[in-house]
Amino acid sequence: MQPYLIAPSILSADFARLGEEVSAVLRAGADVVHFDVMDNHYVPNLTIGPMVCQALRNYGISAPIDVHLMVEPVDSLVPQFAQAGASMITFHPEASRHIDRTLQLIKSHGCQAGLVFNPATPLSYLDYVLDKVDMVLLMSVNPGFGGQKFIPATLNKLSQARRLIDQSGLPIRLEIDGGVTVDNIAEIAAAGADMFVAGSAIFNAPDYNAVIKQMRQQLAN
Ligand code: DX5
Ligand code: ZN
Repeated sequence: MQPYLIAPSILSADFARLGEEVSAVLRAGADVVHFDVMDNHYVPNLTIGPMVCQALRNYGISAPIDVHLMVEPVDSLVPQFAQAGASMITFHPEASRHIDRTLQLIKSHGCQAGLVFNPATPLSYLDYVLDKVDMVLLMSVNPGFGGQKFIPATLNKLSQARRLIDQSGLPIRLEIDGGVTVDNIAEIAAAGADMFVAGSAIFNAPDYNAVIKQMRQQLAN
């Protein structure tokens, strides 16, 4: 297993002070910035695009930016996000007509690529492309909003994904997104995740340092 990564989702940050907020969670010990892109088409909400990613880079954010595309179509946004400073780009397989092509497109732009699985989306989308993904992201809520409750069936799915990854022998990250808190992060890790997105649990906490430290303590036990 690779070292655990904590990725605060900026969906729950104060957008009016986004640069400061991202700097603050990184100072508090976060590893990766999780950047949720919603288009009011693939998901019923609307957020931010490549210009905001570029603005974070211009502000001086050098940590990896993990762009989670909840958009349809996918491909036209890939070069724009790569140019805007994305490090990783993940997309939902249902939103791309040509999944293999989209994965190659992301990698050809120098970013790590991954597929995102909604709670009811089967892992079989990985069958013929496992060697082309750098990360597998399991949604533990239905995408579109922060602050939802973790769906327990995801634990079993995480174990299945962990088995697939281990059997492949490839260094693929297993990321979990939705409803992650200090209270459930240990069992989520036990089920096989090694990268943890947390939005409301971090940004709604009064002290980012304290909550990230508590998460790491849970992961160390
Ligand atoms: C939901 C997003 C998540 C969300 C997580 O569609 O993909 O990244 O911000 O928020 P929490 O941690 O509050 O569930
Ligand atoms: Zn996300």
